[in-house]
Amino acid sequence: MAEKKIACIILAAGLGTRMKSSIAKVLHPIYDRPMLDYALETALLLKPSKTVVVINKDFDTKALTLPKGAAYAIQKQQRGTADAVSAGVSALARSFRGTTLILNGDTPLITPGTLKKFIRLHKKNKNAVSVLSFTAYDPTGYGRIIRDNAGKAAGITEEKDATEEERDICEVNSGVYAIEHRALNLLRKIKLNTRKKEFYLTDIVSLAIKSKLGAGVYCEGFEDEFLGINSRLDLARAYEELRIKKVHELIDKGVTLIDPASVYISPDVKVGSDTTIYPNVVIHGGSKIGKGCTIYPNVRIDNSTIAAGAIIKDASLIEESVIGKAAQIGPMAHIRPGTRIGKGVKIGNFVEIKKSNIGNNSKAGHMAYIGDTEIGRNVNIGAGTITCNYDGAKKHKTIIGDNVFIGSDSQLVAPVTIDRGSYIGAGSTITRDVPKESLSTSRTKQKIYKDWARNKNKSGKKK
Ligand code: UD1
Ligand code: CA
Repeated sequence: MAEKKIACIILAAGLGTRMKSSIAKVLHPIYDRPMLDYALETALLLKPSKTVVVINKDFDTKALTLPKGAAYAIQKQQRGTADAVSAGVSALARSFRGTTLILNGDTPLITPGTLKKFIRLHKKNKNAVSVLSFTAYDPTGYGRIIRDNAGKAAGITEEKDATEEERDICEVNSGVYAIEHRALNLLRKIKLNTRKKEFYLTDIVSLAIKSKLGAGVYCEGFEDEFLGINSRLDLARAYEELRIKKVHELIDKGVTLIDPASVYISPDVKVGSDTTIYPNVVIHGGSKIGKGCTIYPNVRIDNSTIAAGAIIKDASLIEESVIGKAAQIGPMAHIRPGTRIGKGVKIGNFVEIKKSNIGNNSKAGHMAYIGDTEIGRNVNIGAGTITCNYDGAKKHKTIIGDNVFIGSDSQLVAPVTIDRGSYIGAGSTITRDVPKESLSTSRTKQKIYKDWARNKNKSGKKK
């Protein structure tokens, strides 16, 4: 009795031939998540007792982490949507007597609100089988809902099997079904569609009506959310759908988008008010941008946190890093994974930073590589500084204390520590630790050959 009332089966075993791809259709990403992940997330919001994802034997299970309470079931041969549901049902607990909700893995935009409404209607009307339908502006490719003269649902006809008249019907099958336990045995009664050599789940509607179990079709929600992704054109449409939704949400929350048509921001990204985003900016999964930031053109930010007031200048790439308050990054900087940049830090042109901590108010303004490095506060890294962190086999750390000044064109050969308050003379190769408040240089002494050039020219004239 402890059993909850809903189980979800997500169909994802189809071959997806229309994608013309070696990757399973449902693993194609929309932004930075496989399309199947969207359906899974929506399903979980309904708090099902179990979720079963039906896959084919070639599915790469490593490409997706299943949430708790979800499991895979394998459909051995792709014999149609009804056969896929049967494979899913066999993975449900034998004792399960509740409602089985069927979702398609290739329909990622359905909102939980629409599903909840649908389930409510299904339960209220006490049908054994319910189908969620929508009115399509262009019904091409979808199964058409057939209703009798009284407007009651009679069945679903796939486009290939439809008469010309039926093809004009704009009410179509979304691919979402609710099936009560007592109707699950109808799956076995579905006959092979001889044209496609598949068992169509859609046939369960007319079978439920014929066997007097009762079926209902409910037209709910908006067309946009039912987009079934069968081709790469559909995939591009889904991207655009989510993009526009996000752009509207951000504008509503007080973000300025200079050109809303050219920013690509993942659904889960958060952006604070009074932040300005210029054209051609891509902000991907898990990123958080604070209030009052400026993100200039051609920037990509991936899974990173940017604190309030930071300025990210043109053509910079920030990956899995944290940028402090009012810091300035770029133009053309590359902040690689595992970097933490403090408050008020300035990172300038052509600076690459990897897995390093940069303390508050430090600066690396021009052409530098900083890898596996701890940098304190108020440090100045001169132009052309390189931390030599790799000896060909292992990575080593560089430690730079507070208030250190590294002269331009220096190489710091790790492991090495430059203690606080020290100075490194320009053009030095530092291989030994430098104690606090010292000066260290390592370069050959400058020689001067007086009048050398004049003498050379004279000897030239003689010839
Ligand atoms: C299906 C419906 C159609 C509906 C549309 C909604 C059928 C026969 N048709 O058509 O009425 O309007 O979805 O988007 O059900 N799958 C399997 N195993 C299989 C075949 C398919 O798991 O053997 C999975 C696919 O991975 C996909 C889903 O079932 O996620 C739907 O299959 P697909 O081939 O995309 O059906 P459509 O032609 O879109
Ligand atoms: Ca489909």
